[in-house]
Amino acid sequence: MHILRFDTKIAWVQGIASWWRDRLHLHPSLRICLPSGNTPTPIYAAMAQSVARGEASFRGTDLFALDEYGGLAPSDPGLCVNMLRKDLIDHIDIPANRFHWIDTQAPDVDRVCRDYDAAIGAGFDLTILGIGLNGHLGLNEPGSVPESETRRVEMHPASISASAQYLTHSNTPKWGVAVGMRRLLESREVWLLASGATKAEIIQRTAEGEIGVSVPASLLRYHPNCSLIVDGEAGSRL
Ligand code: PGA
Repeated sequence: MHILRFDTKIAWVQGIASWWRDRLHLHPSLRICLPSGNTPTPIYAAMAQSVARGEASFRGTDLFALDEYGGLAPSDPGLCVNMLRKDLIDHIDIPANRFHWIDTQAPDVDRVCRDYDAAIGAGFDLTILGIGLNGHLGLNEPGSVPESETRRVEMHPASISASAQYLTHSNTPKWGVAVGMRRLLESREVWLLASGATKAEIIQRTAEGEIGVSVPASLLRYHPNCSLIVDGEAGSRL
């Protein structure tokens, strides 16, 4: 795991956006797995600005949502697909059929998981990840093994409480679907992103603690091309 640390959050956003533009220039048909949540929001805004200025294009890319909550209404702003649309997809030039998301409303969720895995096909070129305070990656909660497939998961109590920050009501989700650890670990390149002081402890455990399923993000240390990209606050205990 390469550790890249920027002093300020602004530099962190600009650095990541600049690398992302470079990847898109070199490989216009990248297949990218993307998280929702607060961590990537300013980076998505920077990428949307890059597209508006003609400095980047997502026309040839395929973008895949990393995870999704179950049991929320399709229009709920807290659904990962809706957060991704609002923060990125609605502002970039990706054709509609190249944005892939997980339909947890469907009657047969296991089938949705199998179909999603089939759509991922040969795998991701780039996987961008945030990290939960419990070390989860998407909804790969503590206990998720490296071989885990895209599947329905029961949410960890910490993730249930954390989901409240994305909701405008108190009906927090209890389950969801996660792209499995296998797919994340098979990705050709992985960027694990964190900013802010609240992430400092879990970042330290991820990068320097024991590698194991109790901190799923620590499993990325087995990945040959994974970068942990932090701002000064998130990296303050390293
Ligand atoms: P956050 O969520 O980006 O909103 O901090 C990260 C996560 O829980 O995976």
